[in-house]
Amino acid sequence: MASQELITPCYVIHKDILLEGTELLKRSLQEEWPNSCVGYSFKTNSLPYVVEEMKRVGFYAEVVSEDEYDLALKHGFSHIIYNGPVKGKRTFLHALTQGHIINLDAKRELDWLCGYGKKDVQVGLRVNFNLEAYCPGETSAGEEGSRFGFSYETGEFADALQKLSHAGIKVSGLHLHTSSKYRSINIYRALAQMACRLKEEFRLELAYIDIGGGYFGGMENKPKFPDYIKAIKEELIKAYKPEETMLIMEPGTSLITPPIEYVTTVVDIKDTYANRLVITDGSRIDIDPLHTKKSYFHQFLYKDGATNKERITMEKQVVCGFTCMENDRLFEISDKKELQVGDRITYQKVGGYTMCLTPLFIRYFPNVYLEDNGSYRLVREAWTAEEYSQKSSC
Ligand SMILES: Cc1ncc(COP(=O)(O)O)c(C=O)c1O
Repeated sequence: MASQELITPCYVIHKDILLEGTELLKRSLQEEWPNSCVGYSFKTNSLPYVVEEMKRVGFYAEVVSEDEYDLALKHGFSHIIYNGPVKGKRTFLHALTQGHIINLDAKRELDWLCGYGKKDVQVGLRVNFNLEAYCPGETSAGEEGSRFGFSYETGEFADALQKLSHAGIKVSGLHLHTSSKYRSINIYRALAQMACRLKEEFRLELAYIDIGGGYFGGMENKPKFPDYIKAIKEELIKAYKPEETMLIMEPGTSLITPPIEYVTTVVDIKDTYANRLVITDGSRIDIDPLHTKKSYFHQFLYKDGATNKERITMEKQVVCGFTCMENDRLFEISDKKELQVGDRITYQKVGGYTMCLTPLFIRYFPNVYLEDNGSYRLVREAWTAEEYSQKSSC
């Protein structure tokens, strides 16, 4: 990578890797369940370039707030999937008039819908059920259970169905998104089994099953889209016909994590009584804003390239970020060439839940470049004090 051309810190989006993921997903769905569509999860990374690219490949927008809904409109998406527990009434009603897919996730939405007047609407119900019982130890919410959707076990799901039925509104779909710890195929088998069970139990005629997001993508030794989709099909086919019921997927991280890299430069070297500190112009907050990662995919680009043989090997070096937080230490390097000012450290697979969660802390949003066939184009210029102050009055 001709990283010398880049102004660091910055993110780089590799277009070929992005399109590899979107093509694999489209191909796998076409092979297994042709009556399908993909809603790209805006929350995972809604950089304007990224959402435009998702629109160009034919994906719908999957949004969970009024802001995200408005962003999807601004980018001209003609298909939107509106999810989330706190939708806004203005955009909810707009989505109804436009025929977008809405997955209901709150009782007030049932009221809005029943008061809307028209019956021929496309709505689904988000299902809350004890997935932990199907896949012990695997759900993110664990024994506490998910906080999303209408509960199957307590009867709130049945009540919602009944309320809509009394109002003459037919439920078109089920929404089963869940987040899990290991993104395993088991989870999707269980979600599909639940979709079959609900169809039988409530005699549902469904236009779609929205199985949600939460997949791995672009990772060695981990499941890939074809593996997930085959498993989902094996279960769904027991109760659904592909020509009657559309399969919806809502991937985020599996598509946008692999193509994005973060590039930093070493700006200082310090020796203290305890450590050799390698200070960089990047920060943990840009690649691990929730401070949950235990390691990072990374590479060193020595400024002297292959001639770095002259450098001594150091037992321990600690790579640190630009913020003033003591814990902005990214990782430790053992028994490697001594890093020097001007070297670069790059971090791979950092596109999901990073840019969108990066805080405006100490330094504003960094540059984002698109790498396409070896050439680089700025797709978001770094924010300065100008952008930071916009819409403020003093
Ligand atoms: C409703 C919904 N769909 C899709 C996703 C995307 O999940 P992921 O980025 O893990 O694929 C999320 C993430 O939380 C979500 O809440």
